Amino acid sequence: MEANTENTAIAFKDICKTFTLHNLKAQIKALSGESYTLSFGQCLAINGPSGIGKSTLLRCLYGNYLVSSGEIKINHRGKMVDLVRASQREILEIRTHTISYVSQFLRVIPRVSALDIVAAPIIEKGLDKETALERAREYLLKLNIQERLHKLPPMTFSGGERQRVNIARGLARLSPILLLDEPCASLDFPNRQVAMELFLNAKAQGVAIVGIFHDAEARESVADVTCNLQAPKA
Ligand SMILES: Nc1ncnc2c1ncn2[C@@H]1O[C@H](COP(=O)(O)OP(=O)(O)OP(=O)(O)O)[C@@H](O)[C@H]1O
Ligand SMILES: [Mg+2]
Repeated sequence: MEANTENTAIAFKDICKTFTLHNLKAQIKALSGESYTLSFGQCLAINGPSGIGKSTLLRCLYGNYLVSSGEIKINHRGKMVDLVRASQREILEIRTHTISYVSQFLRVIPRVSALDIVAAPIIEKGLDKETALERAREYLLKLNIQERLHKLPPMTFSGGERQRVNIARGLARLSPILLLDEPCASLDFPNRQVAMELFLNAKAQGVAIVGIFHDAEARESVADVTCNLQAPKA
């Protein structure tokens, strides 16, 4: 770890990622040298055609995929931490306190209510259960998930309802860095507007966002800068 004197939230340099499919004896080059430094309160949009490596880049920034080469530094509680060399324990701590990741689809767990799904990461951060449940309720309501659904497991929810629970889960924990993988893809226009407003609010409060937005208008409304991924050279 090294001291951080700047407002840098996340800095990645020359990230390359190649997948090796051992059983098929094949290699897939997904990223070839992406670099960017993002400050708190800024949004970086990742753009490019399907299959170019957008989700792969986000998963590398979340520590889900280990990069083949390059570096990723995360501002974790005021210190720049090297995510590529971090231990599993450090990565889990970074996820609990610093990085929130909204995947394209909510992973639903049978018998766990929408309210508990949103409250769980807040409790993990160390807040008491009552505060966590209150904040979970507030964000579910902001995202137009009616109170009668809060106590139900999202197994039976529509695609758009599930995704709004997912967004509430990502936002309610108030992490300083937010990763968004096509968060609004399954939302109707009014709910998309609500979600985009919440992302803009988070940004105004200093949250750094790295996001994939399939809708150009949404992307332009929130992004300060766009990184256009190029097809890797074979
Ligand atoms: N776990 C994995 N194992 C092997 N190949 C993978 C894996 N994850 C992604 N890939 C490959 O890496 C490439 C980039 O995939 P990725 O999901 O990052 O694309 P994307 O830009 O997010 O596409 P989309 O817009 O369709 O979501 C694809 O060719 C994909 O098949
Ligand atoms: Mg993707």
